[in-house]
Amino acid sequence: MTAEPRIVPNPLFIWIRDAAERLRAIGAGNPRLEAEHLMAAAIGIPRIRLWLRDEPPAEEEIARFEALLARRLAREPLQYVLGTAEFCGTELRVGPGLFIPRSETEQLVETAAVRLERMFADGRTGPRIADVGTGTGAILLALLRRLPGATGVGIDRSAAAVETARHNAERLGLEDRCRFTRGDLLAGVEPDAFDAVVSNPPYIAEPERAALAPEIRDHEPEEALFSGAGGLDAIRRLIPQAARVLPEGGLLALEIGIEQSEAVVGLLDGSVWDGVEVVDDLTRRPRIVTAVRSRS
Ligand SMILES: C[S@@+](CC[C@H](N)C(=O)[O-])C[C@H]1O[C@@H](n2cnc3c(N)ncnc32)[C@H](O)[C@@H]1O
Repeated sequence: MTAEPRIVPNPLFIWIRDAAERLRAIGAGNPRLEAEHLMAAAIGIPRIRLWLRDEPPAEEEIARFEALLARRLAREPLQYVLGTAEFCGTELRVGPGLFIPRSETEQLVETAAVRLERMFADGRTGPRIADVGTGTGAILLALLRRLPGATGVGIDRSAAAVETARHNAERLGLEDRCRFTRGDLLAGVEPDAFDAVVSNPPYIAEPERAALAPEIRDHEPEEALFSGAGGLDAIRRLIPQAARVLPEGGLLALEIGIEQSEAVVGLLDGSVWDGVEVVDDLTRRPRIVTAVRSRS
């Protein structure tokens, strides 16, 4: 009688399974996927190629994997550990000191893109886009990929953000259509300089700090998250600045916190802004406000 062939799992997957269990214990959202990402990064291959690998991990690969896993188990965000984040179908460089682009911000890109496509359907050149608080450049770069005639400027107070956004623009081959600069919101920008102002500004209210996950509260930069006692300080300053730099018909598109739509709509003076709209995210929560600059 011949013995049944025994399938011996590649030790790679035993390491991944054990890591996933440890990640589950700290409350990681998708522990198995995170463990696979960490192993792929340790080996230096795309995650999908893990499945094609027959040989067990080498000693130095395991050492790298354990070092990455230890950082993640200490509640460092996965994207910092990997050095990259996915946004709108591309990979962006990110790291400590920078805001990690979120999937919900893809809705802001989509909303702004649809409105801008409509605004520029007559074929004139543009739009010229300002991305205020650009971080990794996520929003501006996604809009440039989506709108072939668009150009733009990404502004951020953080030098690390500006440097990383430039790197991301080069990686995506978009550097000829955009520039990144340090600045305080739109201070000093000329009137009529842009056709659209888009922003995912800091909007978390100070008192919400304690309720944030440690990955966010202890790792992401304060100035990217918090904006005064009610979370609206940056938006309150940005709206009149946007009115100054946009021509008649120019678009303002803002990401906001879940409970901020009424307050933000209230900040949009009816003598300056037309067609104010609140857009829900995929879970039907109001997360975006858009408005059009009216005649002065
Ligand atoms: C919520 S993050 C958004 C980053 C990026 N736009 C995204 O969606 O991934 C806010 C960004 O605004 C920047 N920021 C905060 N206050 C600012 C200010 N007064 N002027 C310019 N940038 C500011 C922060 O450094 C941070 O990069």
